[in-house]
Amino acid sequence: MSIPKHIAIIMDGNGRWAKKRLLPRVAGHARGVKRVKEIIEHCSHIGVKYLTLFAFGRENWKRPQTEVSFLMNLLLEQLDKEFLHLHEEDVKIRFIGDRSRLDKIICEKIEVIEKLTNANKKLNLNVAVDYSGSYDIIQAINTVLAEGKHKNITREVLEKYLLTYPNPAPDLFIRTSGEIRISNFMLWQIAYTELYFTSKLWPDFNKQALDDAIKWFQTRERRYGKISEQLE
Ligand code: IPE
Ligand code: IPE
Ligand code: MG
Repeated sequence: MSIPKHIAIIMDGNGRWAKKRLLPRVAGHARGVKRVKEIIEHCSHIGVKYLTLFAFGRENWKRPQTEVSFLMNLLLEQLDKEFLHLHEEDVKIRFIGDRSRLDKIICEKIEVIEKLTNANKKLNLNVAVDYSGSYDIIQAINTVLAEGKHKNITREVLEKYLLTYPNPAPDLFIRTSGEIRISNFMLWQIAYTELYFTSKLWPDFNKQALDDAIKWFQTRERRYGKISEQLE
C-alpha cells in the first residue's frame, strides 16, 4: 500500500481542546506541540518524504495580542529545543511564509536551522509561519514580474516560484477539529490532493489517527481527470 509522499496538515482545534478542560486557550497550544513532535517522528518512521505543517496563518495575527505572543514564544522555544534532534534524525527543515513581520530573533534562528539542515535527506519538513495560500501565489507572481525573465506566466513557471518549490504537491491533506474548510492554506498546491477531515482536535491527533488518515488515503482512486479503466 502506498504511503503518501507529501502530507500537509492544518493543525486545528487547540483552543477548543483547552476550553473543554476549562483551561486557557494557550494550554491547548502547549499540548499541541507534543503532537507535532509525535507526527513528525511518525512520518519520518513510515517513509513520508514531505510534511508541511500549518503553524501560523497570515490571518492569525488578528487574534488577541497575548495569544499571538504566546504562539511566537512557543515557536521560538521549540526551535531552540528541537532542531538539533531533528537534524540528527536527518530532517531538512524549511520555513514557508512571509518573514518580514516575524521577530528578528525568530528570523535569525530560522536561517540557522535551514542552513544547518539543508543537506538532510530523510524527511523534508516545511513549517508554514505567517503563510497563506493567496500570499504564496501573489509573492510568486511578484517575483516573476520583478525578475522580468518570463513574458507569460504559465503553470510551470508559477510553480517554480511557489514557496514549496521544488516539493511535489501534497498527496494527502489533513485538517483536524471538524472544520471543513481550507482557511487559506495551500491553495494552488492542493488542486489534486486527497482531502481528509477529522473531528479530532489537534492535541488528540496521535500517530494512530495519522495511520487512520493514511488508510483512508489508500482507499482513494486518484484519476486526475481520466476514467478508472485508463489507470495503470
Ligand atoms: C490551531 O488551533 C492553532 C493555530 C491556529 C495556531 P486554534 O487555536 O485555531 O484552536 P481552535 O480552532 O480555536 O479550537
Ligand atoms: C487555520 O486555523 C490556521 C492554522 C491552523 C495555523 P484557524 O483556526 O485559524 O482557521 P479558521 O479561522 O477556523 O478558519
Ligand atoms: Mg482554529
